[in-house]
Amino acid sequence: MLREGQAKPTQRADYQAPAWWIDTVDLTFDLDPAKTRVLNRMRVRRNPDVPAKALRLDGDELNLARVMVNGEGCSFKMDGSALVLENLPTGEDPVELEIFTTCAPVKNTKLMGLYVSEGTFFTQCEAEGFRRITYFLDRPDVMAMYTVTLRADKAQFPVLLSNGNLVDSGELADNRHFAKWVDPHRKPCYLFALVAGQLVAREQRITSRGGKDHLLQVYVRPGDLEKTEHAMNSLMASVAWDEARFNLPLDLDRFMIVATSDFNMGAMENKGLNIFNTKYVLANQATATDVDYANIESVVGHEYFHNWTGNRITCRDWFQLSLKEGLTVFRDQEFSMDLAGTPSARAVKRIEDVRVLRTVQFAEDAGPMAHPVRPDSYLEINNFYTVTIYEKGAEVVRMMHTLVGREGFAKGMALYFERHDGHAVTCDDFAQAIADANPGSELSQRLEQFKRWYSQAGTPQVAASGVHDAAAQTYTLTLRQTCAPTPGQPEKLPFVIPVEVGLLTEGGQAQTVQLLDAAGMAGSPSASRLLVLTEAEQSFVFSGVSEAPVPSLLRGFTAPVALQFAYSEDALLTLLAQDSDAFNRWEAGQQLAQRIALGAINNPAVVVQANGEIAQDLLPAAFVEAMRSVLRHPTLDAAYKELVLSLPSESYLSEQLEMVDPQRVHAVREALRQQLAAALHGDWAWAWENHQDSGAYKPDPISSGRRALTGVALTMLCLDARRTGDAIWPGRAFQAFKDAANMTDRMAALSALVNSGHPLASDALARFHALFKTEALVLDKWFALQASATDRGGQILPAVKQLMKHPDFQLQNPNRARSVIFSFCSGNPGAFHRLDAAGYLFWSERVIELDAINPQVAARLARALDRWKKLAEPYRTAAREAIARVAARPDLSNDVREVVTRALAD
Ligand code: BES
Ligand code: ZN
Repeated sequence: MLREGQAKPTQRADYQAPAWWIDTVDLTFDLDPAKTRVLNRMRVRRNPDVPAKALRLDGDELNLARVMVNGEGCSFKMDGSALVLENLPTGEDPVELEIFTTCAPVKNTKLMGLYVSEGTFFTQCEAEGFRRITYFLDRPDVMAMYTVTLRADKAQFPVLLSNGNLVDSGELADNRHFAKWVDPHRKPCYLFALVAGQLVAREQRITSRGGKDHLLQVYVRPGDLEKTEHAMNSLMASVAWDEARFNLPLDLDRFMIVATSDFNMGAMENKGLNIFNTKYVLANQATATDVDYANIESVVGHEYFHNWTGNRITCRDWFQLSLKEGLTVFRDQEFSMDLAGTPSARAVKRIEDVRVLRTVQFAEDAGPMAHPVRPDSYLEINNFYTVTIYEKGAEVVRMMHTLVGREGFAKGMALYFERHDGHAVTCDDFAQAIADANPGSELSQRLEQFKRWYSQAGTPQVAASGVHDAAAQTYTLTLRQTCAPTPGQPEKLPFVIPVEVGLLTEGGQAQTVQLLDAAGMAGSPSASRLLVLTEAEQSFVFSGVSEAPVPSLLRGFTAPVALQFAYSEDALLTLLAQDSDAFNRWEAGQQLAQRIALGAINNPAVVVQANGEIAQDLLPAAFVEAMRSVLRHPTLDAAYKELVLSLPSESYLSEQLEMVDPQRVHAVREALRQQLAAALHGDWAWAWENHQDSGAYKPDPISSGRRALTGVALTMLCLDARRTGDAIWPGRAFQAFKDAANMTDRMAALSALVNSGHPLASDALARFHALFKTEALVLDKWFALQASATDRGGQILPAVKQLMKHPDFQLQNPNRARSVIFSFCSGNPGAFHRLDAAGYLFWSERVIELDAINPQVAARLARALDRWKKLAEPYRTAAREAIARVAARPDLSNDVREVVTRALAD
């Protein structure tokens, strides 16, 4: 028996406009945690453009008490969980519908629809949660005007919030009160929100460039107010940025953010009433790290930017999800880069974003859940809030930006709003607007081909090769693109791939070159050129190339592709030392490290001992010296150095292998770290001593970069102490842990002790817990650090099981579940993949257990074994058996069912 009705995939090709429109909705809530009454009065009318049909309203876990049509009782039927009205008046006149239902928010552990978190009511309606609140046409192309009245006990729920403007409020009998809200904008129901409870707000009045006044509010639980300054600053910066860069002003008198500690995702862009996971709101220097501060800035920005890209113009159907998410991620990335300021800080942000794309999205594109940026079918839409929709979608928007330029892109955005403001549209509409605003651009000339980025899944591979003709002083660069098959897409057509290229001399100087056109005419001389690859294979000829060049390819990562070029080790060292493109400079270091790591993994002469360690030295001297010069470099920023000195992750390395022995990957990477720790011991000590920040805490790029660098330095010094038996550095780390003036430094010191497996770690962990036992978000860090700690001999899984018995562990709370279970299963491959398969058994038990509570969270965990087919034996068989064990459960949610079914498919 299937728990959620027969699971039939939804197909993009089946899209039909709705047979009915809903023009206005008037909702009245009598809020009670055990039984909330919802009166829904809506005005509906037939869509004259489509054949007449019954009105079929979505519903889920609702108790229906009454249905009235134009003030009178009427016949209706239930079809599964849908409410079907077959005998509505014909003709084009509007019909008044009144539907009265109840629901049980306190029992809502899925956290979709109306639920209770720590005594406060919250809603989450995207993608299909509104149907758990009332019967409705729960689809984004039905946009209505909302009036909402909230009634509740005044003492228990003093604050009553919904979208838009507060138009009335007052007392009711029985110590109850009410508030009435009117949203001045039409919206799809997934943007509906209400919040009711004991909350306090930080408030800020602002005046826009156009002279309008607005009230900004950040609502939190009493006691958390002093942690809202950074979120408010981020919100003010977001409002200013969208006006300045895209001419998009705040279109509401009042804009509210509310934080909750029970939330499936990061945050949600409900119109005028954004609801956030506390993780992306609350921060002070004692409890939040620099990374937390940066995340808050970008998530606050992201949700705010949806106000235009998502809310004013929304998606026609959920297949168009990247229309709002890809575009809004692009916008939040640009926002963070613009705020970061310096070219170096911008490059750091770009590298961080690309690192996520390449480790997580490239893996998704190569696995069983691979899907295009605009998918063709889904079983459960919640499973498609993926890195492909978000991160690859953002790269697709970024390529358009690259092809039409910054000004051209702004013009395209303006045309997009001119054409589609107030409507529900498609990815085609967006691309068309950007292209039409830029006639003659490479984008408009090749728009249909460019849009293959929306329809074809998979990561294109671009193989580059070059020939220098010394006599003619030309360099011919040949680029070949291929894309491996993905589920349901055996053949791919060529993509439009923008490739920014510069040529260096062997000594690392930039060569000013000219690109020859088809007629052999030389273009304008420049040090860097944007090539646009459109064929399966294409050659580009540069003239004026006096020396055999070292090409710097795909500068700034201008396209989401995997690029291969047979660089010599010397060429990579040159790029690492000299490339003017900061991204490629970092990339050259990563390439070098990757070669060394993969070489060792594939070399049978490299032996992993019984204790899991590798005795041989694996790092060549040239690499060590290159790393030393970056670390000691006089002008590079600390944040950038930290990125260069970080080795590619175990998951990234694993993706580069045909067959993965996770324990071997882990052992090799650990050995490399151990050697880097030893070989650069004096340099790490220098870095630690010379990047201490004693001034007041500020989470800006320069000071957070210094903290990031001292953090790795301490980690390396403690790691080396493991080998040498040195007591000094672990002692310093312990002292630094105790003396830390901010959470970034405290966490870095604690992590250095925990990850080096030093005996002082347990004392430090106990102190940390005692200090922060009332700070939920800090406890999450405490749990996560232990669950993701370096495994040496299999000690992590038993520790994780112990952590789940800790009185502070709570499976129902998504943040806490993620901090322990996800940190272990998805964030700690060296601990998770065990020869005894106990990690997989643990995973399958947790997926099943979580699925009964919260399918959305369970389905995310289910994806931890997506790449099982790549595993070497005995891991592969054990992993398949674990997935099969989950799949054999008869009562799985659609969410988990979809993930495990795809994983097991051939
Ligand atoms: N619209 C989403 C939130 C959402 C996601 C609701 C999935 C329902 C299902 C929101 O705009 C979002 O994308 N949030 C991200 C963070 C963002 C900074 C990328 C999230 O929650 O992870
Ligand atoms: Zn979003």
